[in-house]
Amino acid sequence: MAEELTVQGQTRREKYEVLLPQIEALVNGETDLVANLANVSSALKMTFNFFWVGFYWVKDDELVLGPFQGSLACTRIAKGKGVCGTAWETGKSQLVKDVDAFPGHIACSSMSKSEVVIPVFRQGEVIGVLDVDSDLLADFDEIDVQYLEKLCQWLGENLAV
Ligand code: SME
Repeated sequence: MAEELTVQGQTRREKYEVLLPQIEALVNGETDLVANLANVSSALKMTFNFFWVGFYWVKDDELVLGPFQGSLACTRIAKGKGVCGTAWETGKSQLVKDVDAFPGHIACSSMSKSEVVIPVFRQGEVIGVLDVDSDLLADFDEIDVQYLEKLCQWLGENLAV
């Protein structure tokens, strides 16, 4: 697969619809986990120009920063801490319209205003999370959750880990 994306469409929904199959094709051609998470981060960044997008992966008893696109980020997050640690502990996607209103939000960047975090499951266990941040308030909605969950479900089932 050529290392380029063709993403037409105006709305986020339209963009997700054409992006997800291309991400699947990209990941299907490679077995290395870091390479795949790096390209998924890039594909989301290039398509939506998200402020920060990347993965935290479960290692021992922490989330550890994985491949991402954006500014420097905190490297380790405990279970139940922040938005990411909450997604890990609960196994539920976290849609945060205003990060200042989320108790315990971990501010890696003061520019981050809203956030969505989606758990990645393998055989019923959370193995990592996808974190997407915006510098706009309430930038994410149920459409983002719906498609990012679809993506993360596919990744959980298909990534070589
Ligand atoms: N805000 C996240 C931490 C990760 S950074 O946003 C990249 C949290 O509260 O878990």
